[in-house]
Amino acid sequence: MSSGCSAPGPRGLLCAEDCEVTITCWRGRCAVKRARGLSADDLDPSCAVPLPPPAPAHDIVLGVDEHGVPFGLRLEDVWRHVGVLGSTGSGKTTTAAILVRELYVNRVPTIVLDWAGEYPLYLARLRVDYEVLTDKLLPAVSIVSEKLDVELVLDTLRHALSLSAHQVTALHMVLGLVVGLPVAAAQHMLRLDAEGGRRLSEALKVVERDNSIVSLLNLVKTVWELVVRADVIGGYSRSEAEVWAALARRLAMIAFSRYSWLFRVRGSGVHDLVSLAREKRVPVVVDLSSIPSPRVKRVYAALLLGNLFDYAVARGPLGLVVVVEEAHNVLEHAQALFEHLLAEARKYMLGLILVSSKPSALTASMIANLGTIIVHQLRAPPRTLPGLDLADAERLGVGEAYVVTGSAEPVKVALTP
Ligand SMILES: Nc1ncnc2c1ncn2[C@@H]1O[C@H](COP(=O)(O)OP(=O)(O)O)[C@@H](O)[C@H]1O
Ligand SMILES: [Mg+2]
Repeated sequence: MSSGCSAPGPRGLLCAEDCEVTITCWRGRCAVKRARGLSADDLDPSCAVPLPPPAPAHDIVLGVDEHGVPFGLRLEDVWRHVGVLGSTGSGKTTTAAILVRELYVNRVPTIVLDWAGEYPLYLARLRVDYEVLTDKLLPAVSIVSEKLDVELVLDTLRHALSLSAHQVTALHMVLGLVVGLPVAAAQHMLRLDAEGGRRLSEALKVVERDNSIVSLLNLVKTVWELVVRADVIGGYSRSEAEVWAALARRLAMIAFSRYSWLFRVRGSGVHDLVSLAREKRVPVVVDLSSIPSPRVKRVYAALLLGNLFDYAVARGPLGLVVVVEEAHNVLEHAQALFEHLLAEARKYMLGLILVSSKPSALTASMIANLGTIIVHQLRAPPRTLPGLDLADAERLGVGEAYVVTGSAEPVKVALTP
């Protein structure tokens, strides 16, 4: 055997052909190719010297680094959440689809909130099987949350429906009634007489029976009618009554939409959604593009995430990943909810992959809770991404990205579809 080893080459190739033994590392596992009947033990000592430290095992292979060495993430990195950021056309959705493929390979149930209905095509290109839920098959979401602080739900609805502070207070009372605030207490707060209390009770029973957003709207309308009636104890100012009228108009944006059936007062379709992802063992694409109204779509996506978190808290560690495509569309209108989810969801093994062409939409708290940030080309970079030379991100080509995990140095990676 001739001596003379080359330095580690692409993909961890350790020895030049003249060593007649090559060791190739792929996905953290090393294969020894034997030539002419030689075994690894026959390796020339001079070949053994330049052995590099073993490549870290990657469960999730993203592509190759600048030296051509495979680069990826560990599975536990996903529970600490991943941000995929970059300008339009830089390769974000392709990268997210690569992540979905790798999660599929690792048998991790994955749900994609597909803002524009792109994933079936992207996953098919990567030869990944999937289930798609669209139109009538979309899972219903619950407005009342079992585990989330009501403030987070109210904040989400406030942004989504552009509610004023007074309207939020009114909605707070309505949701309070739904989750058990005694009618007598609401009657007292609203300064209603006994007949008013009776009508409130009736409207509440309809909500309990119907569970629909229309019945919730009806409850708000009932309060509105009561406060403008003459027999209200103490009387109401015109502006107080207007709060209820305006809240009714805002709720009608969802209640009278073609997709009002998607919204329930209590009890979501999340259990079936998670079961589908687990049992089918393929990614489940929730096709949001079938909802035509951006407002309805935003509030639906935010509530679905909130409901998934509820489910994770109730059921213990979920071991589930949710990809949120065009995440800025949702998180800009549900900042408090996203900050809470990013800070808390990892405890329940609910990993989020946020894909966005608008990194400036992410707050400092959101960025601090992204364990891994994959930055593609950024034509207008924000200044808040930690540990990253933003000028370099401007020079990246399509399908290239800097990957920053924890406090490690950024690694330039060419993503492999
Ligand atoms: N890693 C990659 N390797 C090769 N081509 C890529 C890669 N990533 C993206 N592309 C190509 O670049 C184009 C834009 O990619 P896409 O993922 O849709 O970008 P974005 O989601 O950022 O708008 C597509 O035509 C896609 O095929
Ligand atoms: Mg895209």
